[in-house]
Amino acid sequence: MTGTDAAPRHQWRGVIEEYRELLDIPQDTPAVTLGEGGTPLVESLWLSEVTGGSIWLKVEGNNPTGSFKDRGMTTALSVAVHQGAKAVVCASTGNTSASMSAYAAKARIKPIVLVPEGKISAGKMAQAIMHGAQVIMVRGNFDDCLTLSRGLAEDYPVALVNSVNPMRLEGQKTASFEVIDRLGDAPDYHLLPVGNAGNISAYWLGYKQYADLGRATKRPVMRAYQAEGASPLVTGKPFPNPETKATAIRIGNPASWKLAEAAAAESHGRFASVTDEQILAAQFQLSSNDGVFVEPASAAGIAGLLQDLERGESYAGKTVVITVTGHGLKDTVTALEGFGDVVDNVVDVSVEDAAAAAGLT
Ligand code: F0G
Repeated sequence: MTGTDAAPRHQWRGVIEEYRELLDIPQDTPAVTLGEGGTPLVESLWLSEVTGGSIWLKVEGNNPTGSFKDRGMTTALSVAVHQGAKAVVCASTGNTSASMSAYAAKARIKPIVLVPEGKISAGKMAQAIMHGAQVIMVRGNFDDCLTLSRGLAEDYPVALVNSVNPMRLEGQKTASFEVIDRLGDAPDYHLLPVGNAGNISAYWLGYKQYADLGRATKRPVMRAYQAEGASPLVTGKPFPNPETKATAIRIGNPASWKLAEAAAAESHGRFASVTDEQILAAQFQLSSNDGVFVEPASAAGIAGLLQDLERGESYAGKTVVITVTGHGLKDTVTALEGFGDVVDNVVDVSVEDAAAAAGLT
């Protein structure tokens, strides 16, 4: 068969067109899409071996702007544009702002971004700037930025697209649909990092919806992990000064606190914290054992699973999905911090010297 008479293959159309009738959005909303969703579910042979279970990675770094945020941004932006918005605003630790700016550019409306000064990785900042955002640095943390965003949206003609906007969760819940569509049923456990707590809330919505529709026979146990220095859901108290190298989840007072607690309680799950050292070690292990390079915050679920094993928990014989939320290229500075001088093997143009440097001799 030639290319021209071959049957057309299915091309992924973005999460709105793939799942429109399952999304609680105005059904006549035209999609503002960059082709988000449809991300790979990759088996972690490393973790399957370590646990004796079947461990799958939902690789959300493969979304158009490199994080899971695109799933919720297509719905939030599409609905905002449909309702006449000319500008959108968000608070962000970097990924939401990158995603919102891209979708606002696509929709040709104005993106306004509020970020904590000095706490955003260069890659994420570059994305917002290149997509034409008005970037405003705030002397404060993410939680302060969210307060400001809410204030701007209340008093000025600009739509708020943080995950307190329910349209965000409608898009993000499609990740659960994809997991079940791929595995044929819900996993036994779903592990993921938590910051502002929109994502765990969205996954739980999706899992419940598919179970109610009879597309899954069960719902997974949700286990969520926070960085120790920013772990309000673990301690039960807001952190006024959250601190972690996993800047994406440097959040002290999650907006979706109640929804996240409900997801953990209803699924018989729980929250736990992991240290920055555990997060960065898990990030490197995942990159070097599985070929999946994620940003530090995204490795919190991996660190959590390893910690659970150390504490005597068993995942043997279980199906486990771990969401790795954002791409490693988002923040190469933090990734390389522990590696000293990367270019420590400089050689002249000599095969022998290169072989010696490569440890082949
Ligand atoms: N992982 C990454 C890479 C993130 O960027 C975030 C949140 C999370 C996990 C946590 O997800 O907030 O739904 O619990 N980033 C937001 C932002 C806060 O502004 O980009 P959550």
